[in-house]
Amino acid sequence: MSEKLTLDALRKLRDQKQKELAMRDPSNKEMQVIVGMGTCGIAAGAKETFAAILDALEQRGMATVLVRQTGCMGLCHSEPTVEVIVPGMPSVIYGNVNAKIGRQIVEEHVVGRKLLDKLICDRPAMDIIG
Ligand code: FES
Repeated sequence: MSEKLTLDALRKLRDQKQKELAMRDPSNKEMQVIVGMGTCGIAAGAKETFAAILDALEQRGMATVLVRQTGCMGLCHSEPTVEVIVPGMPSVIYGNVNAKIGRQIVEEHVVGRKLLDKLICDRPAMDIIG
């Protein structure tokens, strides 16, 4: 038999969902983390990657980072792919980003402002990011 849903549990759930929604709200965001969620990305585990990145950012209180999803980035061989846009740094696409690497990207690139050179698989063409 399932447990009764308490008012406290409902409030916690509401707060949690509000935080998650705030991370997807584009206003006042200076950095972006974009997860490729095409068929190839989802098949490779992009949903887990997306959830891990959201969780890592939330734990760090990084409310100025917009987390969003996009379609296939054309790099099916390297899914899940994650594009990171941080002002003052080159925009890059990381490949083979599982949940653990997603958390590492948050710690080292977004928070620490350091590129994870070995995991970069592409830099978006200037006409795309322009
Ligand atoms: S799903 Fe077709 S290129 Fe990735």
